[in-house]
Amino acid sequence: MKTGKMAAGTAIALMVAVTGLGAQEQSTAQQEQNPASWQVSQRPPGGPPRGFPPMGPRRGMRGGGSSSLDNPPLANNDAEKRILETTEQVARFMNVPPEDGRVLRLLTEAIGAKNAVEIGTSTGYSGLWLALGLRATGGKLTTFEIDPGRAAEAQENFRKAGVDGLVTVVVGDAHETVKTLKEPIDIVFIDADKEGYPDYLEKLLPLVRPGGLILAHNVGSRNENPEYVEAVTTNPKLETILMTSQMAVTLKKR
Ligand SMILES: C[S@@+](CC[C@H](N)C(=O)[O-])C[C@H]1O[C@@H](n2cnc3c(N)ncnc32)[C@H](O)[C@@H]1O
Repeated sequence: MKTGKMAAGTAIALMVAVTGLGAQEQSTAQQEQNPASWQVSQRPPGGPPRGFPPMGPRRGMRGGGSSSLDNPPLANNDAEKRILETTEQVARFMNVPPEDGRVLRLLTEAIGAKNAVEIGTSTGYSGLWLALGLRATGGKLTTFEIDPGRAAEAQENFRKAGVDGLVTVVVGDAHETVKTLKEPIDIVFIDADKEGYPDYLEKLLPLVRPGGLILAHNVGSRNENPEYVEAVTTNPKLETILMTSQMAVTLKKR
């Protein structure tokens, strides 16, 4: 596992104790972000976010009724098994729900992503799903986290899963640290400070290659982010859909 260097003045030592959220905030965030079990089938109250067309129930998605398409992922080999087992141990702290994790893996692998970027590592749950796809494509993940304690935990989880060799955790304020990125990006996953999404989009979109993807979590009805939704739905160079109840996927057109 490599820990990336940050811009001068923004570095925060990994030894600093985790700040953490209050218990109630944690519990609410956890309920919102990680319904935790594969069996739980629940859609958030309210309709789709502004800017997204209404969508009917979808087979195989939560809220679309039970279906064998809701079954958990099957490991194809020992390496996948190790990563999937680690996701089950990690799934507890403000993480995306498993179906969004699977979307991350599927899209990463489907577009043959070599260079993935994540804003908001937390303890590495969504990063593990990205890493599942990147193992297959021979790609790498650079993931940004402001909280040193969570970043350290994520590093340990990536090590446990055997994917530490393809993940770099960058500790610091991602609004500053993403400026160190220079290479073309195949896929970006934004899941950090919600009001910061438009800024992340503005900074990273120029690096996203044509045909690349920008995924954003929690821009929907429960956590409306009208500024971000506006930015990704009014730019003719972009095509955006709400892929699951919480995951907006934007294609940078070729
Ligand atoms: C919802 S959690 C991410 C969950 C993670 N993507 C997962 O599913 O496992 C949001 C994370 O973003 C981090 N964060 C918030 N503001 C940030 C910033 N300015 N720069 C980097 N990370 C930030 C928080 O510390 C928190 O760990």
